[in-house]
Amino acid sequence: MGKFEVLDHPLIQHKLTLIRDKKIGTKIFRETVNEISTLMAYEVSRDMPLEDVTVETPIAKTVKKQLAGKKVAIIPILRAGLGMVDGILELIPAAKVGHIGMYRDETTLMPHEYFVKLPSDIDQRQLFVVDPMLATGGSAIMAIDALKKRGATNIKFVCLVAAPEGVKALQTKHPDVDIYTASLDEKLNEDGYIIPGLGDAGDRLFGTK
Ligand code: PRP
Ligand code: URA
Repeated sequence: MGKFEVLDHPLIQHKLTLIRDKKIGTKIFRETVNEISTLMAYEVSRDMPLEDVTVETPIAKTVKKQLAGKKVAIIPILRAGLGMVDGILELIPAAKVGHIGMYRDETTLMPHEYFVKLPSDIDQRQLFVVDPMLATGGSAIMAIDALKKRGATNIKFVCLVAAPEGVKALQTKHPDVDIYTASLDEKLNEDGYIIPGLGDAGDRLFGTK
């Protein structure tokens, strides 16, 4: 079974509480999602492999560490996942970015895929699939299905708020995927929204509705 981690660094918790507030407007919401994503990227990249490299300082030659192995690609699930991309790129600026468009039917809660554009070498990369909300898990599961169908093997899923129902569904369907969230909330309501959650992440990020 992959990892399941709640990233409870005080700065992450503080900033997440800020954006749960329904009175917070689009500008602050977007900026804060960005900041949380940078902080989460720091934690999520903790197990990136290192290799020895020789470096010559002005004083002496020495062997030190640098990042090795797989390169990273960030895969936002559209739309709301877009809000997390720039924050992660702050720390991993050379990452490639692939996009998966997915919307959830508001009545059936079933996800529908409408767009896939990925780097050609996703099978060689460590993938960070990002979406602020893991609710029923349907969107994340379908996005990861789409990536695996194209050869991806090394996937971490990163969200801001997760419902227990979504975590269980994602772990059942994709037990190899590590899941990172800033919060494990209580449950879903009858409309498929996370309680207490933060509302509709896409609408809050982009000022729609
Ligand atoms: C939201 C959210 C996730 C999905 C989570 O997207 O950003 O992608 O719902 O729900 P699930 O776990 O039950 O699938 P939405 O479909 O509202 O699209 P949007 O990002 O374009 O607003
Ligand atoms: N999608 C959202 O944006 N918010 C929720 O609470 C559930 C799904």
